[in-house]
Amino acid sequence: MYAPCPAPLRRALDSDGNPVITTSGLTKVYQSRGREVTALDGVDLHVREGEVYGVIGQSGAGKSSLIRCVNLLERPTTGTVSVDGTDLTALAGRGRRASKELREARSRIGMVFQHFNLLSARTVQGNIELPLEILGVSGRERSRKALELLDLVGLADKAKAYPGQLSGGQKQRVGIARALAGDPKVLLSDEATSALDPETTRSILQLLRDLNRQLGLTVLLITHEMDVVKSVCDSAALMKNGRVIESGTVSELLATPGSELAGELFPVTGAATGPDRTVVDVTFHGEAAAQPVISQLSRTYNIDISILGAAMDTVAGRQIGRMRIELPGRYEDNVVPVGFLREQGLQVDIVDAEEDAGIDAELDSEIAALVKDGAK
Ligand SMILES: Nc1ncnc2c1ncn2[C@@H]1O[C@H](COP(=O)(O)OP(=O)(O)OP(=O)(O)O)[C@@H](O)[C@H]1O
Ligand SMILES: [Mg+2]
Repeated sequence: MYAPCPAPLRRALDSDGNPVITTSGLTKVYQSRGREVTALDGVDLHVREGEVYGVIGQSGAGKSSLIRCVNLLERPTTGTVSVDGTDLTALAGRGRRASKELREARSRIGMVFQHFNLLSARTVQGNIELPLEILGVSGRERSRKALELLDLVGLADKAKAYPGQLSGGQKQRVGIARALAGDPKVLLSDEATSALDPETTRSILQLLRDLNRQLGLTVLLITHEMDVVKSVCDSAALMKNGRVIESGTVSELLATPGSELAGELFPVTGAATGPDRTVVDVTFHGEAAAQPVISQLSRTYNIDISILGAAMDTVAGRQIGRMRIELPGRYEDNVVPVGFLREQGLQVDIVDAEEDAGIDAELDSEIAALVKDGAK
């Protein structure tokens, strides 16, 4: 367990960048056999332009309901959804009865599905042309656009093939090309890789990442796999029971004491090897490499440090990781070394601090302030 959390876990948008998808107070209540099911219970989401944003959560958490409300495939019960400056909830209609304005706004939102949803009687090219036909684009232009998109997703030679002749990964590439037909600013993906094997998953995620970079496309993806978040997402939100309980950039989450998402992205385990020991989780990202700091700490204070566990990875091109270390002595004996680590810009969480020393967060920060004053 971590030391008590001084900051609220639920975060608003606090970095630079225009939100391109915003939901405010979104709720969705389904009527099912005379019963009400609350799938979304006040979701505020802010997805910035040009980022890949992952929403993760267990089955039934409300992820698909959220993504379907974002493009108004489902009309939210209350709350608003704004995409690229347009309040979609203010436009009339729903589903097949959507108004012209809503259809137009939706054509700028691409959607990729878990089971591809391709029409088996149409060729690959025909599938990609379908949304363009609906938009009334001429035959010649449709054909040009479809072939350009097939090239973009690496399937230039499959234009005349039928979906039944393609592998799962190739089908999803067609699904992605079709989603891009209306030149969307935003791509929504609901479990796009969960029907695929791990290697194909990696290649599809890489494709989404490349499209995000090449086209400046904002991607909102839903997944229940932590690895997906880890490999492509700049930001993430954790959903439980229809609510977003944590959200932020991966770095912000890692810097949030007690963050469940950060803990699952970078799990570290390991218990104290004896009674008079202090166990500390050190989180580092970007330039702050942990290893030299740990050896500096050891030399400066002449203490033996044991590494109990570590998890490191590259997230969105940056080295990020966590290390669980053990220092000799109780927490009170280690206030200065812990202060040293914090001064190096590392996120430091004391594991089991309350049980070891009965210290609460307030006292923790008071001690940190004292250390700082003492250092002046
Ligand atoms: N059309 C519907 N009618 C009634 N209840 C629904 C409907 N769609 C979803 N629900 C209920 O809403 C809740 C959230 O469902 P949702 O599909 O959004 O979850 P999810 O997070 O996408 O789950 P999964 O990971 O299994 O896809 C569930 O309790 C589900 O049973
Ligand atoms: Mg779902």
